Amino acid sequence: MKNELSQILDEASAEIKSHGADLEQIRIKYLGKKGGLTDILKKLGSLSAEERPIIGAFANEIKTKIEELISDKQKELAKLIADKKLIEEKIDVTLPSKQKETGKRHPISQIMLNLEEIFIGMGFDVVKGPEIEYAYYNFDALNSPKNHPSRDIQDTFYIIKDEKEIREDDVLLRCHTSSVQIRFMENNKPPIRIICPGRVFRLDHDSSHTPVFYQVEGLVVDKNITLNDLKETLETVFNVLFGEGTEIRLRPHYFPFTEPSVEVDCKCFVCGGNDENCSLCHGEGWLEMLGAGMVHPKVLAGCGIDPMVYTGFAFGMGIERLSMVKYGIDDIRNLYENDIRFLRQF
Ligand code: PHE
Repeated sequence: MKNELSQILDEASAEIKSHGADLEQIRIKYLGKKGGLTDILKKLGSLSAEERPIIGAFANEIKTKIEELISDKQKELAKLIADKKLIEEKIDVTLPSKQKETGKRHPISQIMLNLEEIFIGMGFDVVKGPEIEYAYYNFDALNSPKNHPSRDIQDTFYIIKDEKEIREDDVLLRCHTSSVQIRFMENNKPPIRIICPGRVFRLDHDSSHTPVFYQVEGLVVDKNITLNDLKETLETVFNVLFGEGTEIRLRPHYFPFTEPSVEVDCKCFVCGGNDENCSLCHGEGWLEMLGAGMVHPKVLAGCGIDPMVYTGFAFGMGIERLSMVKYGIDDIRNLYENDIRFLRQF
């Protein structure tokens, strides 16, 4: 019987070694109720009183050994599986991470924010107003005559327009942010120092005009404000935008809402006015930048500000124009086509 038991141990251990995967099957086969070892134990009764305890103890030893073998094999298998996983799922911590593409601001937004920063630094407030406006704020309050060409439906987008007469309560898309300055002057007393950034609309469409574009207009009203203050202020702005030492010049011009009115040019920052074949100014030496002037006394008075006490200057610049000059963009439409290859350059 001892031999039989030893044989069971040998068979079981051989099977455990080779058929690792069916360990439960093997346990039932040898140790289960109908298992090989149990069969032998059932025959213990037929043994003599001396042999019985010896064989019994031996059988227990064999049982324990088989159990140990099974449990060792189980551990070995678990380790194998874990090792395999470790190898398969190896993480290379030295690999570069997947880069998320970060966008950046559109060149127009960059210049707008840049301008806001510069003006805020000089003590200006940023004021916004409605894009849909009454003709009164867009034209009449700005001393614009009823027959002014910009009022024409060829130039301005009307939302509500009286067919028979030109009315102050016609409703339109503002063609400049000067309207915001009127609204502000109606509700605030001098000293006033504001800029009005925003979208404006004109029926214009070519390589240097889009029907929707952006402006930053500005207004300063106080006692003793002169044209020289305007020049100083704009010179400061262009020195920050285009570089230290950028000269500006004022040329006489006409706007209904300013008197005198000027156009402001800045010295070509590419050639400094020294290259007849300059790619930016084409030999002009100067770049036309914006309109400006001293606020017309009628405009101040219309807003309840006494023109005998206060004077003011105003200016208005197109942001697309500024960005085209600054970045050398030759067609304004590039700014609105959302071609990422174009926009990435700025
Ligand atoms: N409102 C003018 C325009 O849109 C610009 C301007 C503003 C000119 C203030 C003079 C003074 O063209």
